[in-house]
Parts: sequence; C-alpha cells; structure tokens
Amino acid sequence: MAERKVYRSIAELVGETPLVEVTNYEKKNGLKARVLAKLEYFNPSGSVKDRAALAMIQDAQARGEIKPGDTILDFSSGNTGIALAAYANALGYKFAVVLQPGVSEERTQILKAYGVIFLEFKDVPGVPELIAEKGLAFDEFYSLLQKYADARGWYYINQGRNPENPNAHIATTGPEIWEAAEGKVDYLVALVGTGGSLVGIGKYLKEKNPNVKVIGVQPAPESLKDNRYPERNTLDGVLAFHHVPKEREIRYFEEYGFQYDECVEVNADDAYAAGRELVKTDGIFLGQSAAAAIKVAADVARRKEAEGKTIVAICADNAFKYLSTNIYKEA
Ligand SMILES: Cc1ncc(COP(=O)(O)O)c(C=O)c1O
Repeated sequence: MAERKVYRSIAELVGETPLVEVTNYEKKNGLKARVLAKLEYFNPSGSVKDRAALAMIQDAQARGEIKPGDTILDFSSGNTGIALAAYANALGYKFAVVLQPGVSEERTQILKAYGVIFLEFKDVPGVPELIAEKGLAFDEFYSLLQKYADARGWYYINQGRNPENPNAHIATTGPEIWEAAEGKVDYLVALVGTGGSLVGIGKYLKEKNPNVKVIGVQPAPESLKDNRYPERNTLDGVLAFHHVPKEREIRYFEEYGFQYDECVEVNADDAYAAGRELVKTDGIFLGQSAAAAIKVAADVARRKEAEGKTIVAICADNAFKYLSTNIYKEA
C-alpha cells in the first residue's frame, strides 16, 4: 500500500500494484493451485502500460531527447496512449497518438479528455498504402511514423522497439511479484501487445528461478479483430505473437534472449465468461485481456502437474474501458 503522505505527481505512484489471490474463484472452480492476480489497474492511468510509458518518457528526458513543451508521438491500441497522455501531461509534454482503428469508444473518449492530438492511419503519409498492401508490417510502419515525427520536430517514442518497455518490467513488475509471493511462483500467464510485460516479467522470474514456466496467451483465430466480422467478440489491445509472419514478429524475444515456454490460445467468449464470474466471486472487475489471463490461469490450475503450485496472471486493466463491448453484457 502507498505511504500516507502527499505526493507531488502521479509519476510518483506508478507500480507497487497488489497481488491478490482469487480465493473465492478458486474455491468455486475447485482449483487445486493458487491463482494470483497482479492488478495493474491500480496504476494511476489504469493499466500495466503506465510502467512502460513513464519509463520511456523519463529515459528520453534523461538522454536529452525531449524537454518540456515537446510533442511525443506513438501508435497505440489505447492503454499505452492513455498512459503516455497521462505522464506527458503530468511532466509537461504534449502527446500525439496514432490510434488503432476499432478500439472501444471509451478509449477514444478518455484520450480526448486528456487532450491528445489524434491521428488516424490516413493522416500519416504512406500508412494507408502499406496497410492495403502488406498489413501492419512493423518495421515499415514504424519508419513511416518516424518520418512523420521527424518532419514536425516530434519525438517518436515507439513502444514496439523501445528497450525501456521490457526494462520497466524487469526493474519493477518482476521484483514486485517475486517479493510479494515470497519466491513461490511456478507459472506466469500474460497476454501480449508489444510483448514488453511478458518478456520483462518472464525474464526476471526465470532469472530468479529457471523452472518458472512462462505462458504467453493470444486470442484464438476466431477472436482476432477482423474488419470483415465487426460484430465478433475480441480481446482488445493484444495480438497474436506465436508463429506470426516475419514482419509481425515481436523483436523483444530475440533482443532479450528470452523464450516463453508455451503459447495458449483463448477464445474471447470464454475470457468474457471468466470476467463475468470473477467480478461476482471476488469483486474484481477486469478488462478483456485480464479476464483472458484469469481464464488461462484457471485452465493451467486444472492440470495435474500444477497441483499445489502458484500461477500469476497479469491483469492489465479493469472493466471500465470495455463497458460498451459485450464482455459484461450477458450477466
Ligand atoms: C489490454 C491490454 N492487455 C495487455 C497488454 C500487453 O502489454 P504489452 O505491451 O506489455 O505486451 C496491453 C498492451 O497494450 C493491453 O492494452
């Protein structure tokens, strides 16, 4: 818990989020392993991305790349955008976001409240052509954003290639989990956007104990966003990362010499059902990817070899940004 004192900025309040055992959910489901939820929505802007956003801004500041008044640019599906907006405002910067099409309407409203500069794919020269031809080919997409930022004297902070993203989790989230669980961690379960949290936390925990099993979770093919099926239930903010085409690969795995042990696919309907159950059993009201992490953690807990073990699920954010989606609609 935070100390009883007056803080001077939300930047002082990032991290030290609670690790909570979902005891009622475990009991109701007859689980024979402990499921610990790392509740990242306790961060000031409401998600796991506060850690990377603040670390990336502070690093750019320390290296003299930015000074107050400057404009920071990034591409985001929502949470990183919200986090960068929060710390840009708190530390005296402007923030421009290229928002992924189709994010929930709450995310757009939140970003508007923070006063960000909004950009769509069509605003960045070359991006619509790239998307039409090759889809979101990371390197080419990032270099178009870099060019756009350079032309305006903006700083492109690039969460997809910024080492401060995984580093933030090696420095904070990993040690917080290890210490809170007193070294009793057997499995880590996390979803993947940039891969910063899976790589950073996974690397830290495996250094502490090489037997920790790191499980990356991705949306099942039928739960991936697809413009052809706009009504489909999806997991917002996260991506497929396992055996994807070269141009969509997450570079952090290679750069950090880190490999996950397993990739599990989760159907959005099953993740939503876990979210609806958990809010009733334990009063923990999760976002889509966080509910998916709990669903997979529960499935892992049912494995024979997991009996008596401890599974940590990274719960990236809470439900408030998803109330316009179907997650809590079938109560
Ligand atoms: C809802 C949600 N869950 C999980 C993640 C995973 O974060 P990371 O970028 O660390 O892989 C993100 C990232 O933006 C997210 O928005």
